[in-house]
Amino acid sequence: MRRTFVAGNWKMNGSKAENQSRLEALVAALGQRQDIDMAVFPSMPYVAQCQQILGGSTVAWGAQNVSEHTGGAFTGETSSQMLRDFECRYVLVGHSERRELFAESNQQVAEKFKAAVDSELVPVLCVGETLEQREAGETQRIISEQIEAVLSLVGSDVFANGVVAYEPVWAIGTGKTASPEQAQEVHSAIRAQLAEANIAMAEAMQILYGGSVKPENAAAIFAQQDVDGALVGGASLKAEDFIAICDAAA
Ligand code: G3H
Repeated sequence: MRRTFVAGNWKMNGSKAENQSRLEALVAALGQRQDIDMAVFPSMPYVAQCQQILGGSTVAWGAQNVSEHTGGAFTGETSSQMLRDFECRYVLVGHSERRELFAESNQQVAEKFKAAVDSELVPVLCVGETLEQREAGETQRIISEQIEAVLSLVGSDVFANGVVAYEPVWAIGTGKTASPEQAQEVHSAIRAQLAEANIAMAEAMQILYGGSVKPENAAAIFAQQDVDGALVGGASLKAEDFIAICDAAA
């Protein structure tokens, strides 16, 4: 039985004051919940604020990006060990905005995934197709290549301590959500691909859906057999919506 995981990707939003009230609301409403996994992903400067406010609660925190390097002359980058220093449990790797806007390749994403695993962070590997790719019938191939890059660099049991988030690019921040059936179809294909590498790992691992998840559509998405939670963008900026999505996971 897989636990449901609700993750909030705040992207480049927030301020110290806004985050404080949002985090305090999350602690009050969710901070003792044991039945699901929960995490928020703030911009890098606010990771320490999450540690301070969420520490001791059951809501974890992580970063939106990590360097594939361990240290040295990489201006502007943050290493996985630095994230561990602030007790991050998770890190996103390969979010479509990183792939598109910052030209991260499958290979680089795989290296970031490896850096996270090496530091005992739990990487959340984001995969997904663009609208053009979906319309060209390339969805499965694109996602399979994104996953294969990680499997071949890190090894077949790599997701024993990792999470996959399926985020169709056309559904991110657009208000368009994949239908529960569309999400299930891709999730089941992802699990089947991972089962070829390691059946037990594939059965145990969490596969999240991301793309315009809101309180109104969360329950239908969570009801799908291979959907184990959500990576929530816009709606995670409102504490009440994030809490409602967590409630839909119960
Ligand atoms: O990481 C989160 C996803 O990009 C989804 O964002 O919920 O605003 O569509 P969204």
